[in-house]
Amino acid sequence: MYDIESIRKDFPILSTKMNGKPLVYLDSAATSQKPNQVIDLVADFYRTKNSNAGRGIYKLAEDTTHAYESVRGKVKDFTNSHSETSVIFTKNTTEAANLVMYGWGEKFIKKGDKIVVSILEHHSNFVPWQQLALKKGASFEVMDIDENGQIKESELDKMHGAKFVAVGHVSNVTGTINNVEKICRIARDEGAVSLVDGAQSIPSMKIDMKKIGCDFFMFSGHKMLAPFGSGALLSNDELLKQMDPFFYGSEMIMEVYPEKSVWNRLPYKFEAGTPNVVETIGLGAAIDYMKKLGIDNIKKHKEELVSYALKRLQEIHGLQIIGPKNAYERGALVSFTMDKVHPHDIAAILDDDGIAIRSGHHCAMPLHLRLNLPGTARASFHLYNKKEEIDQLVKSLEKAKTIFGG
Ligand code: ALA
Repeated sequence: MYDIESIRKDFPILSTKMNGKPLVYLDSAATSQKPNQVIDLVADFYRTKNSNAGRGIYKLAEDTTHAYESVRGKVKDFTNSHSETSVIFTKNTTEAANLVMYGWGEKFIKKGDKIVVSILEHHSNFVPWQQLALKKGASFEVMDIDENGQIKESELDKMHGAKFVAVGHVSNVTGTINNVEKICRIARDEGAVSLVDGAQSIPSMKIDMKKIGCDFFMFSGHKMLAPFGSGALLSNDELLKQMDPFFYGSEMIMEVYPEKSVWNRLPYKFEAGTPNVVETIGLGAAIDYMKKLGIDNIKKHKEELVSYALKRLQEIHGLQIIGPKNAYERGALVSFTMDKVHPHDIAAILDDDGIAIRSGHHCAMPLHLRLNLPGTARASFHLYNKKEEIDQLVKSLEKAKTIFGG
């Protein structure tokens, strides 16, 4: 049984107040809250275990190395990815994208090659490829969406002759769940390397990298209950071996001579310098937490919340929902606009009522230009939200409407 009240007790921030009102946190797409299981682990590490990973040979340091390294296996199992050696820890999804851009793109993309993305992309999965194309003289094709926020079937033809395809699993604005299996299959048939941005999917969906069939999958830990500064790039050993390192420094080398250096084996070749040790160990604790609840239960809970949010929000006259109208075609978020009320004003009025949502272009400016919207308001949900919070959201939105005469 999914006992929401008992789950909420694990998240201390959910019983705090904001602006004198009980906090209603509906901005998990920006970052999730953390359970005591993660918070306590981080505090306990600094109190009693603090030491570097992968370096010292004394017990304290070896225990840390073991705790840090054990997270690779947890990530691999959680995502059904190819191997522990192809789990590269990064500080977030953006770093993972840049690692691919510098490590793979700089080496393999040539003048005249074709790079394909979708208009739904977050800047972190758009700007690196746009800049790579500009630098190399490659073409940069952007797949368009239909009025429901789905990539148009006909736009998939843009992948014809592509060398690289990057697509988000779930849009952080429209919530659209892209058919990444199909996109990666087409990319593979074209001989292109594919990358899937899983930042908004991994918090509430089962990730099966082998089934998706992508060459790269990337995600951030902080959106899935883990500390900031944790995350990973997943790939396969064969591809990673062909790539150049992104960062140079300690640990990514096997040998260093005055005239040359020899790179370390995978995955260390891509992990220079002291890593985010406790953040990554915290990622392991977050995975344990989600597995204990059951990813299918989390997904079901998310669908119930999104379905309820879509229903209640559509009761507000003058409110337009962006993206698919069906909870099963969406990630755990709903973006919307309201007649006569700017998204920032919506967020400010909700803030007075203790409700946290995000407003603006959500790091997806090309999409907002395409939708001809200066910004949107976005309510996003996680495994700890409950329907009563959506009722509070709706009540506060009605208030905003009255204030602005909508
Ligand atoms: N990518 C995060 C968001 O959509 C920060 O809010």
